[in-house]
Amino acid sequence: VENIVPAAGVISVDLGARSYGIVISDDLSNLSDAVAGLNPSSVAIITNPKINKFYGEKICAVINKPANTIIIPAGERYKTLSTIEKTLNKMLDAKMDRKSLVIALGGGVIGDMAGFAAACWQRGINFIQIPTSLLAMVDSSVGGKTGVNLPHGKNMVGAFKQPRHVSICPSFLKTLPSREIATGLAEVVKYGIIYDADFFSFIEENYEKFIKSDEVVTQHFIHRSCEIKARVVEADENEGGLRAILNFGHTVAHAVESATNYKTFTHGEAVSIGMVAAMKISCLLKRITIEDEKRVTNLLMRMGLPVHMPDVDLDVIMKLMTGDKKAVAGKVKFVLANKIGSVEYNLAVPDNIVKDALKEMQW
Ligand SMILES: NC(=O)c1ccc[n+]([C@@H]2O[C@H](COP(=O)([O-])OP(=O)(O)OC[C@H]3O[C@@H](n4cnc5c(N)ncnc54)[C@H](O)[C@@H]3O)[C@@H](O)[C@H]2O)c1
Ligand SMILES: [Zn+2]
Repeated sequence: VENIVPAAGVISVDLGARSYGIVISDDLSNLSDAVAGLNPSSVAIITNPKINKFYGEKICAVINKPANTIIIPAGERYKTLSTIEKTLNKMLDAKMDRKSLVIALGGGVIGDMAGFAAACWQRGINFIQIPTSLLAMVDSSVGGKTGVNLPHGKNMVGAFKQPRHVSICPSFLKTLPSREIATGLAEVVKYGIIYDADFFSFIEENYEKFIKSDEVVTQHFIHRSCEIKARVVEADENEGGLRAILNFGHTVAHAVESATNYKTFTHGEAVSIGMVAAMKISCLLKRITIEDEKRVTNLLMRMGLPVHMPDVDLDVIMKLMTGDKKAVAGKVKFVLANKIGSVEYNLAVPDNIVKDALKEMQW
């Protein structure tokens, strides 16, 4: 595990007519090639003010085509239908047509909205993802889920819309605040738990190097995460089955996010809490050993991620879980571990077990 060979940095997502490549490289020639290959009639880069300031010019120079930059204010609270309408109006002003291309330059908020705008514009045009947050690089830019929130419904409106290409520049992480790095790491840890025990060990052994921006380690963290997400999405593009494993830790995470009005925790922080809960439930059900549970909790703690329940009424959390988008007919289904590197999905768990696990997580 120590002498990992730098990966080639190219992953193909095999989805028949909707296949595409993910390239992880600070050399952006892959982006100019992808844009040239699509031969768009016009290009719109959708981004936010901060990311535009850091990387907008660089991207414009690389794509080698005149582009309109559409700037959306930063933050989850702008991930709304009203922002989509404004964006579509700007696309109209820019005279975009059915052969135009949308490029998302940003974190998951920008990626979800740019993708949704591309899905809606004249019933769907090409789009490319340039994820700039760690979470977007390892998760949201791959797999084709796009959309926005309703005032009381996170990600309630959206479309499956695969990008035509994903271009990841690991060096963009240099400007990302450390709290946002940790939030992305929660999803990286998730891939180890759900799919790959060796990758989990690699993360444990190389976390410090990652934090010191070691290029080979960073490349491997991103590469293996994208590869696992790609393999799962290939097996189940529209979430009829296996794709549910990507929701490991998310049942509790969504309830925690909602109970704290999306203000206390970033998504990854809530996922950290949710993964500890899922490990504890797995342990209470004697599916895994306490050692495995401890390994996960310790790793998340080293990353500075929360592993305790916030001070909220557990009945509120329980109730929110039954109302989750992923619940079917009021039945909460859990993804639980068999060991690190393997999970099972669609499992019903008695309420008292869930509550016992959450109680163990209160201070
Ligand atoms: N579509 C999917 O499959 C999927 C999966 C997971 C999450 N999501 C969505 O993604 C969103 C969260 O994404 P996120 O965590 O990237 O949040 P985000 O997009 O809000 O980005 C986090 C913050 O980092 C800033 N930022 C991004 N890149 C930067 C960089 N390189 N340098 C400096 N600052 C930078 C952003 O401006 C923002 O302030 C949520 O809306 C969530 O629902 C979607
Ligand atoms: Zn997530």
